[in-house]
Amino acid sequence: MESAIKIEGLTKEYLNKTTGKMVRAVDDLHLEVYKGEIFGFLGPNGAGKTTTIKMLLGLIFPTQGDAWIFGKPIGDVGVKKIIAYLPESPYFYEYLTGRQVLDFYARLFGIPASERKKKVDALLEMVGLSRDGDKTLRNYSKGMLQRIGVAQALINDPELLFLDEPTSGLDPMARIEIRDLIIRLKQQGKTVFLSSHQLLEVELICDRVSILNRGKLLKAGKLDELLPSGRVEIVAENVDDGVAEKIRALGGQVQRQDGRVIVHQPDDASVNRVVDIIRGANGVIRSLIPQRRTLEELFVSTIEEVEKK
Ligand SMILES: Nc1ncnc2c1ncn2[C@@H]1O[C@H](COP(=O)(O)OP(=O)(O)OP(=O)(O)O)[C@@H](O)[C@H]1O
Ligand SMILES: [Mg+2]
Repeated sequence: MESAIKIEGLTKEYLNKTTGKMVRAVDDLHLEVYKGEIFGFLGPNGAGKTTTIKMLLGLIFPTQGDAWIFGKPIGDVGVKKIIAYLPESPYFYEYLTGRQVLDFYARLFGIPASERKKKVDALLEMVGLSRDGDKTLRNYSKGMLQRIGVAQALINDPELLFLDEPTSGLDPMARIEIRDLIIRLKQQGKTVFLSSHQLLEVELICDRVSILNRGKLLKAGKLDELLPSGRVEIVAENVDDGVAEKIRALGGQVQRQDGRVIVHQPDDASVNRVVDIIRGANGVIRSLIPQRRTLEELFVSTIEEVEKK
């Protein structure tokens, strides 16, 4: 797998002006993001996510450590042309219209006048702002500003996008649109580094995720590996007490409800045997659903575990 981002020992210390002490916002971070994946960068408020993104973009300098983007050291001018950033609270000149803002950024990237209008129209369409392109940003809602932020990030057709909370403040429809847009970007072969507190959303679209807390990396991996399917729920009918006893003997929890039997089997391995027992006694299987742990559960338990220490 080709590397998009490689981080080795990245550390950032800030001076806390009230206490006069140095605070480690990011602490010896090692991480690799592969080309073409959507990578979720998670962590509670103050974990160091934005600080990490800003170091990768070359906006602030690391206290220690190194990082590379597509093999080039961070801050490399060539890299800046192919990456994009959606800040957590984008700020734009509010007396400009949405169209003017995008035109302004297109000029910054040196896109010729002949292509700019087409490009700006296409971006407005992509983020669902076609009808609002000529309003000034002063009259934009929070969600509309966020959409302009996403459009702005796409202006240079970047290979790698850093999205810091792209759906914060958006209504459910807009959230789904942005989520679909991120998936389309991945389909075009782009890499997305996504920081978000919307764990359900992250679970839906990310290939791999990482969890940061107080500047330290606690977990990183594929969702399938981090969220193993634990229990399996089996719903069956026509199951007598003798069969229920046999299932209990295999470690399953058996509940009776409205003539049905609901079995929670602790692991995949014994599920086949339970199914055999039920069917062997003329029982009827209605459903069999693996109960995967949610990312939210993993997040909470991971953070609680270290905070207890
Ligand atoms: N310019 C700064 N000067 C001093 N301390 C800072 C500065 N920027 C961030 N910090 C501190 O660094 C830590 C990490 O902040 P950061 O903004 O990276 O967190 P985050 O993970 O992005 O949080 P959130 O989810 O709230 O956006 C916090 O303790 C914060 O107070
Ligand atoms: Mg942040």
